[in-house]
Amino acid sequence: MHILITGGAGFIGSHVVRHFLNRYPDYTVTNLDKLTYAGNLANLKDVESNPNYRFVKGDIADGPFLLDLFNEQRFDAVVHLAAESHVDRSIESPVEFVIANVLGTVNLLNAARATWGGKFDGKLFYHVSTDEVYGSLGSGGMFSETTPYDPHSPYSASKASSDHFVRAFHDTYGLPVVISNCSNNYGSHQFPEKLIPLFINNIRLEKPLPVYGAGLNVRDWLWVVDHARAIDEIFHRGTVGETYNIGGHNEWTNIDLIRLLCRIMDRKLGRDDGSSETLITYVTDRAGHDLRYAIDASKLQRELGWVPSVTFEEGLEKTVDWYLDNQDWLDEVTSGAYQHYYETMYASR
Ligand code: NAD
Ligand code: DAU
Repeated sequence: MHILITGGAGFIGSHVVRHFLNRYPDYTVTNLDKLTYAGNLANLKDVESNPNYRFVKGDIADGPFLLDLFNEQRFDAVVHLAAESHVDRSIESPVEFVIANVLGTVNLLNAARATWGGKFDGKLFYHVSTDEVYGSLGSGGMFSETTPYDPHSPYSASKASSDHFVRAFHDTYGLPVVISNCSNNYGSHQFPEKLIPLFINNIRLEKPLPVYGAGLNVRDWLWVVDHARAIDEIFHRGTVGETYNIGGHNEWTNIDLIRLLCRIMDRKLGRDDGSSETLITYVTDRAGHDLRYAIDASKLQRELGWVPSVTFEEGLEKTVDWYLDNQDWLDEVTSGAYQHYYETMYASR
């Protein structure tokens, strides 16, 4: 089988590429990535010499390029992760999110439909999406697969739109699709603009930890390796046309999570005085900040038997170890353009 994985040089995509290559030695995996600020081929150093792995640099917003690529490569399946993924950036530049996430997804759907030409047997278009499409919860309840869409940020609106297009291609043209909506991921190789790697980086450099608002927003955290395992299960055994929610039943207020992270970092860095917590700095809240996300993943557990493989404490410990063992990776991705991003994003708060 020849699988196209889009966004494979990013955080989750690199874990998915690694997982498929290691678990399925008879599959060929082509990774298509534009290599934006978030895409980094260093994330895949361990697989780059695998004879079943290919990398193509390209933009999913470029429809004619995609048609050529699909015609040439005759992919059997697509696992689509490429996207602009950071909520704060979407608030600054919404149009970029429409181009990458909406137009890019429609271009891919078009290319798959055109190349597969109605012969859909054994083909699959797997769209990787987010729980943010469901909007925000109050103190109770969980998102299920039937929760109505109610996105609030430009990022989540663009992902919601892409989900709708994927379902439209299924209902209109019979394209075999599957969608999963996952909660917040954490783990190695995540760009340090997202909460956990940003705070690990800032704690190591003794820089302020910018907590939005009162720090009481709740996120439901899942180890990225468990997300890749869930994608594998759904890809191979999910029902075409269906949606699966993925989550770890692991809700944390931001401030509790940050305090836990500070304790782990103090221990790892030998800061016996507990000084990491003194870096916590409350800043202006994110505009339209969703209060709480919580995923009901019971369909995935019931139908496909997937459960997370680690506890949050275990996963966070592994994650901190990875960043501390790979400080050159952090230094590299936070040089140059990152400095400008960081200054403009946080100067106003
Ligand atoms: P990321 O920002 O780390 O990686 C995105 C990748 O897509 C990068 O390698 C980037 O270069 C590539 N890309 C962006 N625009 C592109 C374009 N126009 N053409 C080709 N490649 C392009 O993102 P991530 O956190 O790994 O998220 C991957 C996917 O998973 C996204 O679709 C996101 O919406 C979804 N998701 C993320 C989370 C999370 O917690 N991070 C949770 C649920 C779902
Ligand atoms: O729920 C899935 C989504 O999770 C994915 O679809 C997105 O791609 C991914 O970026 C993530 O979105 P969030 O906005 O939840 O993640 P982020 O790491 O940006 O923020 C997590 C929480 O921490 C959120 O409540 C905002 C808060 N926060 C974030 C940053 C970067 C802070 O308090 N300070 C910060 O500096």
